[in-house]
Amino acid sequence: MAVIAVLLASVLLGSALGVSVKGHGLGIINGDLAAPAEFPHQVSLQRHNQLIFWSLDEHFCGGTLITTQWVVTAAHCYQGPGVPVLVVAGVNSLRTADRAKAQVRKAERFITHELYPGGVKPYDIALVRTDVPFEFSDAVDTALLPFQTNDIPTGIATLSGWGYISNGLFPSTNDLHKMTVPLLDLETCNATVMASLPSWASSPLADTNLCTRDGPDGTNGVCGGDSGGPLVQYESGVPRLIGVVSWGSTPCGKKGEPSVYTRVSAYLDWIDDKISGDDQ
Ligand SMILES: *[C@@H]1O[C@H](CO)[C@@H](O)[C@H](O)[C@H]1NC(C)=O
Repeated sequence: MAVIAVLLASVLLGSALGVSVKGHGLGIINGDLAAPAEFPHQVSLQRHNQLIFWSLDEHFCGGTLITTQWVVTAAHCYQGPGVPVLVVAGVNSLRTADRAKAQVRKAERFITHELYPGGVKPYDIALVRTDVPFEFSDAVDTALLPFQTNDIPTGIATLSGWGYISNGLFPSTNDLHKMTVPLLDLETCNATVMASLPSWASSPLADTNLCTRDGPDGTNGVCGGDSGGPLVQYESGVPRLIGVVSWGSTPCGKKGEPSVYTRVSAYLDWIDDKISGDDQ
């Protein structure tokens, strides 16, 4: 069966317009609603469109706070030069009414990895620097970076995002969802991906990728709008960022199809290089 690899950036017009999509008990795809302040490291990246009488902020990707002023996201989340991007932290709901509780900053710099060629490819990582630091609270905080370069995580991990929760007519969600997922070894993941993608969409994994086989029945969990967001592992309750949501196959939630991430431990030097010397 042909399955096409897709990047998972998206636009949630519904949330920007304050339209809520109700009636879903399900999450990311088959996930659960996040509890308030459960993911203080999670941010929403939003395109700011200034119209004549009003403005429209559209969620397009997730991200992870790693310092008061730096966010890790995916390179394919880059919107192009001159596109105003907001970084929104501290809320689970993207509804306009909840905006008052959010901390909103402007993206001042969006640094994509120099070796990212575009599309469904490795090096899908980027850093965003905000104009003003965030203020930490119980709803806004950082995730730790991996302990060691090239540490290969195993076991289970937790995924969060505002991505589509179904492939239906109204796939969007305004509410942050989460899912606990088993990591899948790279060899199995690569073999699955190579077998299911048609050759023209072929996207072999790199050593710098990470995969999960999500959901209790093996369906994949990430979907449009989850891109750039965090895959974390907890140590004594403290989240450590191990992966950045990169891509999955469409339709989302297909059984046996893994979700693919950029493995953060492969980019510690790159992150350090970009952030160090920054007078924050
Ligand atoms: C995935 O499989 C392809 C095709 O066999 C291969 O070229 C690529 O190196 C593999 N990737 C990894 C990480 O093993």
